[in-house]
Amino acid sequence: MAVCYDKKSKTISINTEHTTYQMKIGPYGVLMHTYYGERISGEDMSYLFRYEDIGFSPAMGDAGMDRTVSLDTMPQEMPSFNVGDYRAEGIRVQHGDGTYVLDLRYVSHEILEGKYCLEGLPAMYGDGEKAETLKVVLRDRAKEFFVTLLYGVFEDLDIITRACLIENREEETAVMDKAVSMSMDFLTADMDIYTFNGRHTMEREAERKKLGKGITSIGSLRGTSSHQHNPFVILCEPETEEEHGGCYGFAYVYSGNFLVEAECSQLDMLRFTMGIHPSRFKVMLEKGRIFTMPEVIMSYSGNGLGKLSAQFHRAMRNHLCRGKFKNSRRPILINNWEATYFDFNGEKLIAIAEEASKLGIEMLVMDDGWFGKRDFDESGLGDWFPNEEKLGMGLHELIQRVKEKGLSFGIWIEPEMVNEDSRLYRQHPDWAITLPDREPGRGRCQLVLDLGRECVREYLYQAICGILDTGDISYVKWDMNRSISDVYNPELSPEQQGEAGHRYVLGLYELLEKITTRYPDVLFEGCSGGGGRFDAGMLYYSPQIWCSDDTDAIERLKIQYGTSFGYPISTVGSHVSACPNHQNGRITPLHTRGTVAMAGSFGYELDISKMTAEDKEEVREQIKNYKKYFELIQEGDYYRLTKPEEIFMGWQFVSQDRGKSLVNVVMTSARSNAPGCIIRCRGLNPQDNYKEAGTGRVYSGSALMYGGYLLPKEMGEYQSYQMYFERV
Ligand code: GLA
Repeated sequence: MAVCYDKKSKTISINTEHTTYQMKIGPYGVLMHTYYGERISGEDMSYLFRYEDIGFSPAMGDAGMDRTVSLDTMPQEMPSFNVGDYRAEGIRVQHGDGTYVLDLRYVSHEILEGKYCLEGLPAMYGDGEKAETLKVVLRDRAKEFFVTLLYGVFEDLDIITRACLIENREEETAVMDKAVSMSMDFLTADMDIYTFNGRHTMEREAERKKLGKGITSIGSLRGTSSHQHNPFVILCEPETEEEHGGCYGFAYVYSGNFLVEAECSQLDMLRFTMGIHPSRFKVMLEKGRIFTMPEVIMSYSGNGLGKLSAQFHRAMRNHLCRGKFKNSRRPILINNWEATYFDFNGEKLIAIAEEASKLGIEMLVMDDGWFGKRDFDESGLGDWFPNEEKLGMGLHELIQRVKEKGLSFGIWIEPEMVNEDSRLYRQHPDWAITLPDREPGRGRCQLVLDLGRECVREYLYQAICGILDTGDISYVKWDMNRSISDVYNPELSPEQQGEAGHRYVLGLYELLEKITTRYPDVLFEGCSGGGGRFDAGMLYYSPQIWCSDDTDAIERLKIQYGTSFGYPISTVGSHVSACPNHQNGRITPLHTRGTVAMAGSFGYELDISKMTAEDKEEVREQIKNYKKYFELIQEGDYYRLTKPEEIFMGWQFVSQDRGKSLVNVVMTSARSNAPGCIIRCRGLNPQDNYKEAGTGRVYSGSALMYGGYLLPKEMGEYQSYQMYFERV
């Protein structure tokens, strides 16, 4: 068993292959957090904590005159509230009698086989493999108010998940206005925090900083996980780098408003929490109501960030992503967005398909503009029926004709949105999220439909089925192109309005679950103006997400670098687009655009009819290579070889058996009379020999890893290289 309880020390230890997580039923029944890190052999780690009289840290009521126990200093698994712990709050509740208090104490625990599920929420699943669940029940010292902590354990993966269930069993309704899924108190705050931040077309830029006193926080109030701050965070020791040092990763399996807090306390301890953002959040907990908090995926690596990422990649790929595509090669697609924008018809798409099929592309994706009245982005959203007049044919016919060219067919939808200039809005203006008596704010000239409402979900379910039943549609790009504002749900009472945002997310998950279950053979790709909803919650429904609306290969290097810390390469939607690039005007070699796009679910997004014969040949070559390398890319271990600020970016894929490897390098600046550039490989077997494809040169693994590979010298900006090695 991975989870074990030691009666004598009252410790519960969770052991994975390389890590240990430990809690202890401490003095007065407080559930203490005693350890998380490198695997240890089972001792009670609470010896690291000293009980002392710390001035201005009051003792708990039941400790009487004992001055050495205070919730303000004890490391806890779930913080109490208004009983002398002044650090970041976990669950904040006002009971029916008006008291603001939560004084949680241990009641019981259970160890179960298999991984728990969360009703209505995405979560990692066991899939018959070794997984266990630990359930720890805590109760308020005076009230019938319970918090059940859930731990999912994937021993072989070094992954532990956390979630919690919050229940009020008192007669009177309790009001909760802050809740976290997990909290953990580390004994030291001498750590750096990595967060992944940005904006539209510049998502998940990795930022590392030292934690200082007070609270460091990131979060989103946009209704989605957002472009601005991703719900994936790393804590690491100051000296931690790619290949050495301790680090912890936390991925929120949730796509709505969230808050991460890291507080360095007076004693230089660290409290880390991940939960739903408390702003505009309020839950009425009537007697017996259980509120389920979303899951956090956690992992620890004692051997650097590279290993930590590999642990998350494996876990998400195999135990979060679902469906027939989770481990199979996704079709190489061509999307018409950057080729045509709104200016297309059926014949134009068929012509693209014809050209594309000659190059080996396997699927045509018809992007925005095919439905309702939509020749620009100010109208049509909500009207999910084909504009046959614009297409010049029915959707069924278009699909058939594309298929005749040898390509499968994919389609873009943005179900969560409505334009005021649409049939749907004219019929149901009240379905859009607006505040009563106020003009709603528009984003990209559109409003958001309230997926927290059953009637809206039902309409969308029927509408999407209507499209998908029209013909043989193999792929859906599910987009979401604005942040949510003016949040108010007319079906909820004034007291319930604090749940409107969360109910939207639950509604979205319910709809996605219904659709993906009904269409198991369809590949879903998530999207929100690129990567504005790139989170572990969405990966449960779509095994890939369009990484960014920025398709410039050089800026993508940074975006994909940041994304790779938490998310598997197979989930990263990445396309080759035209030059000058449409977002920033940069010109890069086609070969480089291919190299960069191959670090993901590969495709094209340009007008191939405008390509020269030479460029078409390059595309053929890229497709051949992607087909050859896809297993390595999708299932191999991924290594970041450099950081974005260096003069070249390098990354590498290595097969699980270390027999094959693909090394990728992009020069990010051109220099004259410069010294040779050497890139050091990783993950190979030092004793083995590897033959480089093309040159036929044989290197030992140790030479490539400890000496490195000398890059060729070429003129020009943004050159790229792909070196493929096979063990001989
Ligand atoms: C978003 C997507 C793009 C494209 C447009 C269409 O911005 O990220 O790829 O689909 O919408 O409007």
